[in-house]
Amino acid sequence: MTKQTAPILVLGPMASEIDALTAALTAPEETVRGGYRCTAGLLDGVPVVTVRTLIGMVNAAAATALAAERFHPRCVIIQGTCGAHDPALHRGDLILGASLIEMGSYYTPHRDAGAGSCYNDYTFPGVQLAADNAGDRVRTLHSDPALLAIAEAVPYAHGARVTGTVSSGDIWNRELDVIARLHRECGSLCEEMEGFAVAQVCRMLGLPMLAVRVVSNSEWHADEAFDESVGLLCQDYCRQLIAQIDLHFGEGNEA
Ligand code: 5AD
Repeated sequence: MTKQTAPILVLGPMASEIDALTAALTAPEETVRGGYRCTAGLLDGVPVVTVRTLIGMVNAAAATALAAERFHPRCVIIQGTCGAHDPALHRGDLILGASLIEMGSYYTPHRDAGAGSCYNDYTFPGVQLAADNAGDRVRTLHSDPALLAIAEAVPYAHGARVTGTVSSGDIWNRELDVIARLHRECGSLCEEMEGFAVAQVCRMLGLPMLAVRVVSNSEWHADEAFDESVGLLCQDYCRQLIAQIDLHFGEGNEA
């Protein structure tokens, strides 16, 4: 079995979503480019670079592109907290994002001035072009199937674990009709602000990626307001996951 030396790139938007992994690195070397802090080191002996992307789609895309150029990773994990779209999910549950959609990308019908707006009339998700001038139009992006299979075999002890669709966008939805529509029509399990942007950059760069999220809030349940401390549960899971990726993923190293 060939030991991989290219690092695994692990992204987390906020301090509460990445600092525990960064603190667990041995021989850490920090570089800051723009506002993006990257720390290269060994996580339980595996070469890893953690990146604090900051919040939102543009930050996530820029941080991914800059870190990919600098560190030539073998794969990318975007992880952190999310809000539930599926009423069956609760704080602490883990979601593997097999598919990602951009919930901020939509088309509206024409309405006259003064007619107001109605989300129910919007068509979404909108189309993104995935190649120069080509007819390669996508609405949905995907985590790498081999990374997903590895993740599905890693136990998660702090709640349920489900695999499905993650919605991304610079939006924090609290209207239950909107949340219900995303869940019903798109099969969306949850929402966050970075995953699709990371998946889009990774697709353009030919990098395998995986989206992992822990539920930190749910509008469906009155007692489940945002609690960023669950970011630790996701990082703990990703630490176990990275050890398995190192064993099973990469050239000459396929599971
Ligand atoms: N809606 C949008 N983003 C959320 N996040 C957690 N819960 C939600 C939610 N309900 C994540 C985003 C962002 C930060 C604010 O927390 O990914 O990084």
